[in-house]
This record gives sequence, structure tokens and C-alpha cells, in this order.
Amino acid sequence: MSTNQRDPSAEALRFDNVTLEFPGSHQPAIQDVTFRVARRKLVAVIGPSGCGKSTILNLAAGLLSPTRGQVHFDGERVTAVNSSAAYVTQQSHLLPWLSVKANIGLALKFRKVPKDERDERVAHWVKVVGLTGFEDHYPRELSGGMQKRCAIARALIYDPSIVLMDEPFGPLDAITRLKLQQDLLNLWQEQEGTLVFVTHDLNEAIYLADEVVVMSKGPGTVTRVLRVPFERPRSIGSLVDSHEFSEIYNELWSVFKSEIDLSGASAGAR
Ligand SMILES: Nc1ncnc2c1ncn2[C@@H]1O[C@H](COP(=O)(O)OP(=O)(O)OP(=O)(O)O)[C@@H](O)[C@H]1O
Ligand SMILES: [Mg+2]
Repeated sequence: MSTNQRDPSAEALRFDNVTLEFPGSHQPAIQDVTFRVARRKLVAVIGPSGCGKSTILNLAAGLLSPTRGQVHFDGERVTAVNSSAAYVTQQSHLLPWLSVKANIGLALKFRKVPKDERDERVAHWVKVVGLTGFEDHYPRELSGGMQKRCAIARALIYDPSIVLMDEPFGPLDAITRLKLQQDLLNLWQEQEGTLVFVTHDLNEAIYLADEVVVMSKGPGTVTRVLRVPFERPRSIGSLVDSHEFSEIYNELWSVFKSEIDLSGASAGAR
């Protein structure tokens, strides 16, 4: 057991035997889910469709309450919307009637940060996520990758203690994904916050995470928590070519493949 796991103050998020049953459903969406996220760690949650990954993020964000068990954030039980958490949903959910800079600055406006400071921080984040020149554009005028960048800047601008991301790069093409994954890694080196993200992509989980929580479904439970031992800063380019990457990938794949039905398919190669 690591020091972080023994010291509750080093813990950002904790699920203890969490079960959630949606009203009218014949089986729980998740059952007895237990895992911890240490502060300043990046944790990936992977599992088959419907195993409860988004449900877990919604519980961490305080948008849902457990039927049984407890969710703690920073040592406090989560009983209402978790205002310390920034949540980047799969669809980005940018406000279509606001410009890029207004979308990015929204959380600061809600927090009544003075306009001068707000403008300065928005300008900084526009630059960090590579949207210079698009500040006054509207979301519909951006590509999918740019919308994602905008959503990420909007989430990170107010220094949240924890960021929750649901399939952050899901709908994007492979090249844009790789670029954004590396950008996120670089950002995280400066940010040093806690990140919990859901992904279907085993490579993405290994590139980014310190730990991978693997789930199974029917009902959703945690099957395994796998540690990714790569040092930071990481470069995806050099990780992919390493022997260690293949080893971890194969280990993760051997856990994951039993969770999905591949009858008739010849998947497994990355
Ligand atoms: N509001 C809801 N009411 C009833 N059942 C729900 C609700 N939201 C989710 N579920 C059910 O809970 C289970 C877990 O759903 P969840 O969205 O968390 O899965 P997921 O792992 O995020 O799936 P995906 O990978 O497809 O996004 C599913 O069986 C789903 O049908
Ligand atoms: Mg989901």
C-alpha cells in the first residue's frame, strides 16, 4: 500500500462500496464500486458500454447520489453538486450563443472574478489551448477538436481541484486525438491537478493515466486497478515504441477482452 493510500489527506476522491440503482431498473447500474484517486494523479476508467463509467463521473460530480455506499471528495462526503469539480462531458456542451472567449470565461464570471483579471486569464487559456485568432468565433464555427480545446480551457481556467472528463477525445479522428492527448499531458505537467477520465481507448488510458480502473458490466463493478509506471513528463511518441508500453498494453488487454464480446472478430492488435 502506498503512503498516499494510507494518508486520507492525500486522497482526492474515494468510492466505498457504491451501488446505484436507477428507479424502475431491474438491476443496479453499478454495484459495490470501491476505488480511490490520490491527489494530483490521473486515473482512467475503462470498461464496456453501459458498465457505469458516466454514472461514476456523475456521482463524483454530485449529480447523482448513491443508493448504498459513499462517495468522498477531499475527505468530505459528496451530498450535493461538487463545486470543486470541473466536468467536461462527451458533447463538450459549449453555449452556442457565446463566443469562444465568453465560453472559456464563464466559470470566472459566475465566480464574480473582476473583468480585467477575467480577460487576462481567458487570453492566457486561449493561447494555452491553441485557439488564438478564434476568440470571437462561435462554437458552430469551430472544428470538433477546437470545440474540445475550448471545453478543456473552460474547465481548467478556474483551477478546479479535480477535473472529470467523459471520453474527452471520443468523437475525434486519430491524429487530432493524438495531438490533444499530448497537449493534455503537457498541460498536466504544469497544472498538477487531479484528473479522472473515462475512455474506451486502451492506448489513451496508458498514455495519460497513473492508474487504470477496469470495469465490467451487468451490474458495473471494478474488476481491476492497474498501475501505469511511466515517469512524467511523458512523450506519447517515445512511449509507443517502448517495450514497457507493449507489456502494459497486453496486460490491460488481457483484462479488458474478457469484458467484451468479440465472437467472430479478430481484435486485439493495436
Ligand atoms: N438516467 C438513467 N435512468 C435509468 N438508467 C440509466 C440512466 N443513466 C444510465 N442508466 C443505465 O445505467 C447503466 C450505466 O450507464 P452509463 O451511462 O453510466 O454507462 P457507460 O459505461 O458510461 O456507457 P457508455 O460507454 O456507452 O457511455 C446502463 O445500463 C444505463 O442504461
Ligand atoms: Mg458514458
